[in-house]
Amino acid sequence: MTINYDPFSEAARKDPFPSYRELRDEAPAYWCENTSAWIISRYEDVHRVLTEWESFSSDAMSSAILGIPPGVDPMKDPHARQQLSALADAMPFSLQEFAGSTTLITADGPKHLRMRNIANRGFSPRQISAWEDRVRSIVSELTDKLRSESSFDLVSDFTVPLPMTVIIEMLGVEPEYRHEFKRWSDGIIAGATGSGRAAGTATGGFAQAMGDMSRYLADVAEQRRAEPRDDLISLLVQSQSEDRAEIETLSSIDLVLFGLVLLVAGNETTTNLLGNTCNALLDHPEQLAQAQSDPNLVPGLIEESLRFESPVQFVFRRATHDVEIAGTKIPKNSFVAALIGSANRDEREFEDPDVFDIRRKSQGHLAFGFGNHYCMGSHLARLEARISLEALVHELPQLERREPTVEYIDSYLVRGPSRLELVRKTAVG
Ligand code: HEM
Repeated sequence: MTINYDPFSEAARKDPFPSYRELRDEAPAYWCENTSAWIISRYEDVHRVLTEWESFSSDAMSSAILGIPPGVDPMKDPHARQQLSALADAMPFSLQEFAGSTTLITADGPKHLRMRNIANRGFSPRQISAWEDRVRSIVSELTDKLRSESSFDLVSDFTVPLPMTVIIEMLGVEPEYRHEFKRWSDGIIAGATGSGRAAGTATGGFAQAMGDMSRYLADVAEQRRAEPRDDLISLLVQSQSEDRAEIETLSSIDLVLFGLVLLVAGNETTTNLLGNTCNALLDHPEQLAQAQSDPNLVPGLIEESLRFESPVQFVFRRATHDVEIAGTKIPKNSFVAALIGSANRDEREFEDPDVFDIRRKSQGHLAFGFGNHYCMGSHLARLEARISLEALVHELPQLERREPTVEYIDSYLVRGPSRLELVRKTAVG
């Protein structure tokens, strides 16, 4: 059977799962021309790629986003240098600073561990649970507003503002920048992974969004250095100066890029988790009724939703040497795309994987990744999702979709509804 999988296609955006099954069955290590990557689709192999960091480097995450071939030094390759210059020109940093920078998500080994230890100071389970009351009050404000409307878009009225408000408050960013952040974050995601990228038309908006967000974060970091507050940016700025001898590699640009990673990684993903979960509940009213009558089922509902329709479908790695996966030889310096969205639907790992079942034991899903780079925001995402869904399971039974079909966001990397317009059911009789 010839497989012709294109992650940018309309069909893949609507429903990628039949193609994922074909990939797992027929081509578990598949060369994809459009992403110039080897797509790895079975659970066991995705797990291995995420675990063996010495063979599969995370530096590919930046190469993939910036459109630079893996293993190429952008300062030595004219095309890559030009690509990076276009971005650096829009940023408040020089090309040299930019080329030499790393983020938590793209670093490997000891450097990654050092950055992770610093960043983790703001993300321990204890620190995150301190946010519970605040998250509850934002959720209750948003739900009250929904209750007063006969129709609304759950995405723009709930799933976007919740994580955005939380991360903005955690970072210490002024609320009036909320809409700017959403715009920048959308621009970065669409520019990096949307269909415009395949057509080569997304570069300008992407650079502009990266530049605007970076300039803003650089300003805030400067302000917090002078006058620390009780927020995450102050914590990161302080750790930067306190531990300077030990972490001289965490430069100002690393700090700004970390803030940028948090905004993109923390917003879009949680928004999509909430949108995907509500969608699945609308499609499965009997399970919605169960979750409504027993709030103890909500944590299981969240894990099943993460497995069933993973908000992050792919993560990228670079093969650091020639390596064999699923019987296929993958040459050194190739892009390797670990298809989390498919691993979580692998019938070799999960029984009846295409069935959505909130009582299933979904442990072991890879929606938050695995190994060294396991999602640092998982406690926060689960907290936000639990509090939201404890409220939303009581709202959804009175609501239905305005349109039967769901539009998904323009990205093969992240998956979630772009809009979810709901209307109150009319009483019959
Ligand atoms: C449902 C919501 C979320 C999902 C599905 C998700 C998914 C992921 C995945 C798959 C990775 C691994 C990337 C890799 O291996 O290359 C990751 C890493 C990360 N996530 Fe999340 N994430 C979510 C929410 C959040 C939130 C709320 C934050 C922070 C506010 C966050 C911050 C991060 C960071 C900083 C990393 C990098 C960790 C590292 O490289 O060591 N995420 N996330």
